[in-house]
Amino acid sequence: MIEKIKHLLSEAENLQAHNAEELESLRLKYLSKKGLVNQLMADFRNVPAEQKREVGILINRAKDALTARFADLKAALATTDDDHSDLDLTRTPYPIRLGTRHPLSIVTHEIVDIFSRMGFTLADGPEVEDDWHVFGAMNFAEDHPARDMQDTFFIESHPDVLLRTHTSSVQSRVMEQNQPPIRVICPGRVYRNEAISARAHCFFHQVEGLYIDRDVSFTDLKQVLLTFAREMFGPDTRIRLRPSYFPFTEPSAEMDISCNICGGEGCAFCKHTGWVEILGCGMVDPNVLEANGIDPNVYKGYAFGMGIERITNLKYQVKDLRLFSENDVRFLEEFMAAN
Ligand code: DAH
Repeated sequence: MIEKIKHLLSEAENLQAHNAEELESLRLKYLSKKGLVNQLMADFRNVPAEQKREVGILINRAKDALTARFADLKAALATTDDDHSDLDLTRTPYPIRLGTRHPLSIVTHEIVDIFSRMGFTLADGPEVEDDWHVFGAMNFAEDHPARDMQDTFFIESHPDVLLRTHTSSVQSRVMEQNQPPIRVICPGRVYRNEAISARAHCFFHQVEGLYIDRDVSFTDLKQVLLTFAREMFGPDTRIRLRPSYFPFTEPSAEMDISCNICGGEGCAFCKHTGWVEILGCGMVDPNVLEANGIDPNVYKGYAFGMGIERITNLKYQVKDLRLFSENDVRFLEEFMAAN
């Protein structure tokens, strides 16, 4: 009998079950009422008195070993088994943490959506650009300060290669590939060599708009921008255009909207003027059309460009530009409701 139990002990270590049926047949064979362990218990009666102690200990050890092995096999099967019959499907699930869209993406989509409803289609161009598309084709004079090393990131070994400083470069990319009518909206990231602070960053985002056709007028531009401002900031929003200068537009203007924080009454945000600047715009300079292969005697156009961080600040009052690129989830989760 002692041999039998020792054999059972070594068997216990090597038991295997690949599925629920095999596990159950092990249980029947060893641990059920009529199983081997109970048989040993029954036979225990007939063990001679002087062996009882040794045999009793061995039987207990065998029982424990088999029970433990059985439990291990059962646990292993529970994790690999695709028989899910013991799953509790009524249990309340763990909450799933959903991600949120980045506030700049939310606002970019909104801007693109507004302009696409007015017939603009998406266009884009490279962030690593050449001098021609960023400056030359956009009518910047050779000595224009924007080309200065202090503003623009150049690639050291390739003086002609740089990180675009504005999305206006996409205007040139679109014009060299297409003849009018052209009506595009171009969101993207731009780079400037600025020290990082709450109010400035070495990269940020812009949206460029370009419309070229016969008989395009400044009035068309103004109406499109008014519609945009009202869609974006609410139907009571007013706009005003102030004369300005950009190399690629003539005439040029900067557009203010009535401060959407105080409604134009005057507050700290609008420096008590009631107005906040949101974009630059103008009629495409004939030199730009010509440089990009479009006949300025036949076609006219308007263009505009705005900073997406600026629009986002106006909508959500983000006080520090750095928050946009730090990806702190506490900040990002504030935009859960806007998604
Ligand atoms: N590129 C200008 C900037 O980065 C913004 C701009 C102004 C774009 C006027 C335009 C425009 O298309 O017409 O500040």
